[in-house]
Amino acid sequence: MNLNDKIQAINDSFSKDKKNFKSNSIKFDDFKNKYLGRKGLLSELYPLLNSVSDSDKPECGKKINSIKNVITKEIHSLGNNLSDLSNNALNIDSSMPGTEKFSGSIHPLTKIIDEIKSIFNRIGFSTIYGPEVDTDYYNFEALNIPKDHPARDMQDTFYINKETLLRTHTSSSQIHFMEKNQPPLRIISPGRVYRNEDISVRSYCLFHQIEGLYIDKNVKFSDLKGTLDYFAKSLFGENVKTRFRPSYFPFTEPSAEMDVSCIFCKSKGCNICKQSGWIEILGCGMVDPEVFKFVDYDVDIWSGFAFGIGIERIAMLKYGVKDIRIFYNGDIQFLEQIKL
Ligand code: DAH
Repeated sequence: MNLNDKIQAINDSFSKDKKNFKSNSIKFDDFKNKYLGRKGLLSELYPLLNSVSDSDKPECGKKINSIKNVITKEIHSLGNNLSDLSNNALNIDSSMPGTEKFSGSIHPLTKIIDEIKSIFNRIGFSTIYGPEVDTDYYNFEALNIPKDHPARDMQDTFYINKETLLRTHTSSSQIHFMEKNQPPLRIISPGRVYRNEDISVRSYCLFHQIEGLYIDKNVKFSDLKGTLDYFAKSLFGENVKTRFRPSYFPFTEPSAEMDVSCIFCKSKGCNICKQSGWIEILGCGMVDPEVFKFVDYDVDIWSGFAFGIGIERIAMLKYGVKDIRIFYNGDIQFLEQIKL
C-alpha cells in the first residue's frame, strides 16, 4: 500500500472508531492506543517514507505530520471530555462496590471530657489546666496531705525525684489556680493523672479526671448537692437519681462520694451495680479550711466545694466497656464501634 492509500485508510478507520467510541463500543484506552500507541497505526506511516523518492519526501512528511496532529488533537480532546460523558460511555460498572474511605474519630475519653466540660460551662464554670509533672507540695502538701500522712498510701505515686512527681489526681490544679486567683471562682480542670498501680481490667497506670472547684461567700453543702445532681442528670438523663455517702478526703470536710441510680437496671440490681442499684461516680466535699490557709484565702469569708470525677469510669458505664485498657491500646475495631 502506498503512502496516500495508507493515509486514506487510517482516516477512514479513525472516522469509524470515533463513532464506535461515542457509541461506547470501543474503550478510550484501546482507541487511543490503536492510533497513538508505540505500535499504533500512525507509527506505520513513517517506514513508508523509505519507498518515496527524495524529491517527494518533504511533501509526504508534511502529510504524515498533518494527519498525526489532527488525530492526536482529536483523541486528546475526546479524552478531556470523558468526564462529561455518561457513566455508560466511561464503561463504569455502577453495581461495583465503592472504595471504602476510613475517617478518624474523636476518642471516646475526649468525647466524655468535652461533654462534661460543656455541662459545667453552661452553669458558669470555666475550664483551666494544671501541670501533669508537679511537685510534692501541690499534689499532697497543700491539699492537707503532709509527708507521713496515711492518705498518701491511697495513691501510689510515680516519683521523678524526691520533690517532683507525676500528679496522682487533678486536685493539684486547684492549688495552682487558687494561688494565682482570688475568689469568687468556679472552675473545672480536666487532665491525665498517673498512679503506680498493677494494670488490670479495672486499673491502668494513667487515667483521666475532671476536678471541680466552687468558692464564694456562704457556699453550703446543698449547693454542692444541687450542682452535682444537675451534672448527673445532664450526663445520664433526667430520670437518674443521686445519693451522697459520707467518705474521707484530706482536703474536704465533710467529704462524700456520689452515686447515681444504676442506668442499666434502673436500680433493680444487676452485675454492673453489684445488685446494689447504685453506681459510684465521684468524690466531693466542702473545701477544708486548712487548704485555704495554703493559698491565703480568708477562711472567715470564703467557703466552697470541690469534686473529682473519674473519666474512664464514666466512659466504661456509658459505652458498656468492661476493660479499662481498651481505651489505651488504639484498637481500631473498638474505636469504629463507638464512633458516633
Ligand atoms: N482527688 C480525689 C481522688 O483522686 C478525688 C476527689 C475527691 C477530688 C474529693 C475532690 C474531692 O476535689 O473534693 O481520688
